Amino acid sequence: MVTNRFWRLDSRPQGQDFAAALSLQQEELPPLADGEVRIRNHYLSMDAGTRMWMSARTDGYNPPLPLGTKMVGLGVGRVTETRDPHFAEGALVRCFGQWADYTTIAGDGFGMALLDETVDDEREHIGALGLNGWTALLGISETAAVRRGEWVAVSAAAGATGSLACQIARNLGARVIGIAGGPEKKRYLAEALGVDVAIDYRNQDVSAELARIDGGVDVYFDNVGMPLLDQVIPHMALRGRIAVCGLVATYDSETPLPGPAAFDQVLMKRLRIEGFFLPDYLDRAGDFYATLRAWADEGRLSLPFDQTDGLENVLLAYGRMLSGKNIGKVIVKLDH
Ligand SMILES: NC(=O)c1ccc[n+]([C@@H]2O[C@H](COP(=O)([O-])OP(=O)(O)OC[C@H]3O[C@@H](n4cnc5c(N)ncnc54)[C@H](OP(=O)(O)O)[C@@H]3O)[C@@H](O)[C@H]2O)c1
Repeated sequence: MVTNRFWRLDSRPQGQDFAAALSLQQEELPPLADGEVRIRNHYLSMDAGTRMWMSARTDGYNPPLPLGTKMVGLGVGRVTETRDPHFAEGALVRCFGQWADYTTIAGDGFGMALLDETVDDEREHIGALGLNGWTALLGISETAAVRRGEWVAVSAAAGATGSLACQIARNLGARVIGIAGGPEKKRYLAEALGVDVAIDYRNQDVSAELARIDGGVDVYFDNVGMPLLDQVIPHMALRGRIAVCGLVATYDSETPLPGPAAFDQVLMKRLRIEGFFLPDYLDRAGDFYATLRAWADEGRLSLPFDQTDGLENVLLAYGRMLSGKNIGKVIVKLDH
């Protein structure tokens, strides 16, 4: 028998009070069913979008996670037991498993993938080479169709997806405006990511800063939603594009929130606003990975880690991300 600790969603969190809504439980794992795989998780990926799964809203991109079940999240680890011939014991894999010591999942479970063992640091599979990277690449190069010389603004720019979106836009020859909260993040954007314009939305007037952009903002890669969106829309260039990647400022809300007041600019400036969702494109993983790996190998794409140790500290890490204390990718290292 294998003992497994896991986080259970007991109730719908109010705001960011995750400790009241999730609890750490322990179980003895049953034998695998046919087609299942068991994975010892090495690292868990903290992803802002998973906040939506905790809510009761049924109009999100995923149905609510049922109460009393294990919290679902992305992780990297090695197969310890298998009843699926595609996944050998010892294989390095990534999947949407459980916030737990061990993930038990069907071999054809969502996002289940064998990983490239030539990468030195397996954390990269939930870092620059992982799904945040694929998301940034998809949004910048396809949804927004960024062209050389264009001005590209990115919100939550010092976080995982945003840091990568800034670098990908730069790699495609765009001029980049990074928007993030606080002076430390502003410095990171300017010095580590090399953006052309860094804006600290907590201490600067975003609208006034964007008003200086000659010709306006061609592309806005939005990770945040309202109210920041309202400060960006009036400064969009004619025929600008807004790629809606995420709405992290509103994931706490149990009800839909009002849209932008400056919506009339969509017509006046002939804007295109389009949401995109990476899980719709998982069949293109090979192409995304090859592009990102090439940039990473050339030293043109990287992502720092904001690492917390221990499964028992998952909620601390999760709260760090959603309250904006992180620079780069928030992960949890499991201590075994
Ligand atoms: N469409 C897709 O397929 C897809 C896939 C992956 C991720 N995403 C989206 O990408 C976004 C970033 O996710 P991530 O997992 O990479 O997390 P992250 O950016 O590493 O962390 C979240 C960041 O959001 C910012 N934030 C939180 N509350 C905010 C608020 N009220 N106003 C403004 N900014 C706020 C914080 O930065 P500041 O300190 O700068 O506020 C924080 O660092 C999320 O919206 C997520 O849903 C979308």
